[in-house]
Amino acid sequence: MPMITTVQQHILQQQREQMKTTGREPTGTFSWLLSGITLAAKMVEAKIRSAGLSDIYGAFGAENVQGEQQQKLDVYANQALLHCLGLRDSVAALVSEEDEQPVTFNRDPETGKYIIIFDPLDGSSNIDVNVNVGTIFSVLRRLPLEQGTLEQSILQPGYEQVAAGYVVYGPSTVLVYTTGSGVHGFTLDHTIGAFVLSNERMRMPEQGSYYSVNEANADGWPAAYRSYIDMLRAGGLGKTYSSRYIGSLVADFHRTLLKGGVFLYPPTLQQPKGKLRLLYEANPLAFIAEQAGGVATYGAERVLDIRPEVIHQRTPFCIGSRREMEALVQAVKL
Ligand code: AHG
Ligand code: MN
Ligand code: MN
Repeated sequence: MPMITTVQQHILQQQREQMKTTGREPTGTFSWLLSGITLAAKMVEAKIRSAGLSDIYGAFGAENVQGEQQQKLDVYANQALLHCLGLRDSVAALVSEEDEQPVTFNRDPETGKYIIIFDPLDGSSNIDVNVNVGTIFSVLRRLPLEQGTLEQSILQPGYEQVAAGYVVYGPSTVLVYTTGSGVHGFTLDHTIGAFVLSNERMRMPEQGSYYSVNEANADGWPAAYRSYIDMLRAGGLGKTYSSRYIGSLVADFHRTLLKGGVFLYPPTLQQPKGKLRLLYEANPLAFIAEQAGGVATYGAERVLDIRPEVIHQRTPFCIGSRREMEALVQAVKL
């Protein structure tokens, strides 16, 4: 019988490890919380697998707070996460890309200790063409009442995250997460309906051979980004690079985590503050990247140090291997 480790078991093992330093006995609250996310992910995955046979493709017929056409799967994924997580007593608030305001639960701060922030379905433009999409989540601890309101708890900087992760729905369905003790990957095993540990202590290569950016926006980037990409193309980092851009952030990041390289969404003419959202796209992936030995900036500065002002705020986003990111920070600083 092969030994398997599920996400819940892994979380509890990690907490027992951490107990040696924190002295805190794992209560199971956190693993119970994460089981809400894995349950919702399995519901989304089942919907995606049968998408061609049901009417889940296409637009839902409404716009979200971003002013973007919601896809039916955006709405389904959002409802699945709100339902599964709303049932967890330890949740104080849920913040979603698809909802203008947070969903809050009237629980006392002792019970409702966590805030979950998520992009329920990332890469919506790829759903109808059967290309990888994903789910991204970030977990913050609610501030004690005397230190801040629920809203201030939501707007904490990314370095305060207690966990972050994503699910990428591709040829296999993979969940990657960190609680600050390394990055760990799990693959959904359909025979038992559980995410099973498949890649422990993931490390991002020091340097890769891919750069990932939407080059259609190049004329609108600040000049430093254009010269940076030209430098990569010219072999300035001692390697030949290939371009890969899937248009689903989770898939482009997952490749960068495994193979190294760099992903960029610079400021553009249409979106001078960048397109990607800080709380549920940039922060969780930045936490994972740093835990795996990578780097994440919004130009020259660290993403995780940004003090959020509003929950849907956007940011330029650059993330990847140490070598490519050191060169990028230099290029942007010039
Ligand atoms: P979402 O589907 O959650 O709105 O995210 C889409 C994002 C991200 O997944 C991807 O990297 C980016 O949009 C692609 O934007 P462009 O099509 O402008 O390149
Ligand atoms: Mn997204
Ligand atoms: Mn989305």
